[in-house]
Amino acid sequence: MKTIIEPFRIKSVEPINFNTREERIYLLGKADYNPFLIHSEDVLIDLLTDSGTSAMSSAQWAGIMRGDESYAGSPSYFRFRDAVQAITGMPDVIPTHQGRASEKILFSILGGKGKYFISNTLFDTTRANIEFSGAEGIDLLCEEGKHPSVPAPFKGNMDVPALRKFITDHGAENIPLVIITVTNNSGGGQPVSMANIKAVRKVCSEFCIPLFIDACRFAENSWFIKLREEGYAHKTPREIAKELFSYADGCTMSAKKDAFANIGGFLAMRDENLALKCRNLLVITEGFPTYGGLAGRDLEAIAIGLEEVLEESYLQYRIRSIEYLTNKLIDAGVPVMQPAGGHAVYLDARAFLPHIPVDQYPGQVLVGALYVEGGVRGVEIGSLMFGKYDEDHKLIPATLELVRLAIPRRVYTQSHIDYVAEVIIEVFNKRDTYSGLRIIEESAFLRHFTVKMVPVM
Ligand code: F0G
Repeated sequence: MKTIIEPFRIKSVEPINFNTREERIYLLGKADYNPFLIHSEDVLIDLLTDSGTSAMSSAQWAGIMRGDESYAGSPSYFRFRDAVQAITGMPDVIPTHQGRASEKILFSILGGKGKYFISNTLFDTTRANIEFSGAEGIDLLCEEGKHPSVPAPFKGNMDVPALRKFITDHGAENIPLVIITVTNNSGGGQPVSMANIKAVRKVCSEFCIPLFIDACRFAENSWFIKLREEGYAHKTPREIAKELFSYADGCTMSAKKDAFANIGGFLAMRDENLALKCRNLLVITEGFPTYGGLAGRDLEAIAIGLEEVLEESYLQYRIRSIEYLTNKLIDAGVPVMQPAGGHAVYLDARAFLPHIPVDQYPGQVLVGALYVEGGVRGVEIGSLMFGKYDEDHKLIPATLELVRLAIPRRVYTQSHIDYVAEVIIEVFNKRDTYSGLRIIEESAFLRHFTVKMVPVM
């Protein structure tokens, strides 16, 4: 087997600004130990997110020039709608400016006090939009998904018996939707099997609860199904994606991930009454139904991106590059989520820095260390992002303390990835020298974006 190469040539480049370790120590302090507050020009390899950071293709840039900016009925909208319908089979396609705008609309309509939304794992913005409506978000992840170091093929699966029990205990009338996140971003970018989606569909049908897909990384999930699930090896990613969506009543999508767009998203669904309510809210919050919160040129970039993301050569390279970095780390003894996820490498911060207690945020400490040692920016997905407080203001920690290194699509080459591995291994070798952080300022929702921290003395 020969090396799986990047299936593209580079036509346009952006310089990386180099800085020194001393400069980065100063910059991290200036950013209050919060990677979101570091300026991107001060980052060498930016793995903060795979969202909106993709390199677009020459075909997408050409589509951007073709974009029609008519307020109503633009041909760019119809190309966008057709591309979404061709994959999801869902008749109502509602453009939004990004995934969370779709969530805001959906949960404003379906949410409210006393309601529960059940998921394998809700992403932070999804959970925040649910909670902002007054409803509660419930994660029912399968047992395998809760153990970072234990490999299993579909660690993003929902716990189906727990789903049935929750519905029976709380009443189907209080559960407006079940949402499956593919791949499971907050749980390690791990895929959900087709069998699991079918099983969840069955339970939803039994209790008349609609099933939605949080489809941000549907193409990556489809590729894992092809590689790992019996009966799918000979199917194309497009066929698999179509089957996956066929079990759902609707989806929310951030086109900033598996559509290679720098901005954009959509809601798609089969229930025309719900779609009407969503469009009514869309007009107030996002824009007219044929552009949502987007320019015509963005709709073109998404339509073309949705085609390109299902190409086998791309998906093979994409999934292989994440696996390449994960395997290098495993070989060096670094504790990582196993097996490799679809869009990111997840370091197990609790195992990496066992001497730092969870209420001193080991994940955030590790994020800081990677920045100082190598200018690599990642993000904590642990108790800073998902932790809550009890009545005595004591931290209720998250299930996992992870650091996510998300790989932007088509942006970095193999030598960039080799460098990232070297930085992580260097930090691992001096892990005993790091100490904890404490919070000095935070907000009630999505606190990780704006939190200010200082080292524990
Ligand atoms: N759902 C999932 C699974 C996501 O990963 C994201 C975004 C969203 C919804 C919201 O989409 O950003 O377009 O509003 N995830 C980004 C990330 C931010 O870094 O993982 P959005």
